[in-house]
Amino acid sequence: MSAPRANPPMAMLAELTHRCPLSCPYCSNPLELERKDRELTTDEWKDVFTQAAEMGVLHVHFSGGEPASRRDLEEMVAHARDAGLYTNLITSGIGLTRRRLEALDSCGLDHVQLSLQGVDAQMADLVGGYKGGFDRKMQVAGWIGEIGFPLTLNAVMHKKNFDRLEETIAIALDMGARRLEVATVQFHGWAAKNRAALMPTREQAKQARLTVNAARARLAGVLVIDYVPADHHSDYPKPCMGGWASTGINIAPDGSVLPCHAAHTIEGLNFDKAHERPLKDIWYNSHAFNAFRGFDWMQEPCRSCELKTKDFGGCRCQAMAIAGDAAATDPVCIKSPLHAELVRRAEADAEDDADLIYRLMPD
Ligand code: SF4
Ligand code: FES
Repeated sequence: MSAPRANPPMAMLAELTHRCPLSCPYCSNPLELERKDRELTTDEWKDVFTQAAEMGVLHVHFSGGEPASRRDLEEMVAHARDAGLYTNLITSGIGLTRRRLEALDSCGLDHVQLSLQGVDAQMADLVGGYKGGFDRKMQVAGWIGEIGFPLTLNAVMHKKNFDRLEETIAIALDMGARRLEVATVQFHGWAAKNRAALMPTREQAKQARLTVNAARARLAGVLVIDYVPADHHSDYPKPCMGGWASTGINIAPDGSVLPCHAAHTIEGLNFDKAHERPLKDIWYNSHAFNAFRGFDWMQEPCRSCELKTKDFGGCRCQAMAIAGDAAATDPVCIKSPLHAELVRRAEADAEDDADLIYRLMPD
């Protein structure tokens, strides 16, 4: 069978490093983090950005871990910008200085996405596992505004902070953010260990949607709010990644090229390295990228469902994690035979008051 047709990816997530000063319990990076000596070199990353631009990628998101942990971040931003890519820095802000932000501005950095661990020092330091993190982040937010970077604030929402969503929206306004991403916690990677500590209740998920809708109406033209709902309390899954290997390409710190952030959890797929095989060849021709493209791979009930062109059967990594089969219907879907069990587990986790389990960083 020939491979399904694919368009070039629009965006690249460049996970420069797994190193990070925070220890967030909802970290979606893998359980096994890459050590510094396994990270791509500056020149290898630059070659990745050149290839990305040549194959039609428009945006590169510098991510991690904490991408500012790489001392060569400025050099990579400048290179990506010269290659014609729109550059976005996804950062906790911890470790950034005003001088570094100014250097990034000089290198042409287009946009900053700042993560928010909590609306006050007590909550932020509890979630990030980093004392003093909140005050430093607020200082960084001030510098971002003074330098004039367009800002998006990212807030991961969960059981312990959903009731403070209005305050989260107020902080985004205070910071002068143009966008706020309200993302309900996803249970990939380390976050799966914290299901019982972080799973929101059904009532919180319902209230969050009402709060977001009211804020969108109130703040039209002032703040755009992107909302990732609590899919464990939904009847239909999200169209994860807009469909497997359709719009985005991820590069892990060791150069592994992935169709999504959690793809390495899918058994039976081997992922090529960006410094060992041309990116374009990986995107169009590799087995892993073609494994779930199109619709031929689907099983019932997805195969004959009219919604398959909208949600692509949900998330392959969630199907792998819960059903043990990446080609299964995402158990979030009400038509999945596993949906009732998913709901039962989510409700049990939401009622639990388990402690947070912090992740430890490699040396
Ligand atoms: Fe989506 Fe599959 Fe459920 Fe249909 S059966 S709604 S395609 S996940
Ligand atoms: Fe991998 Fe959804 S996170 S397909």
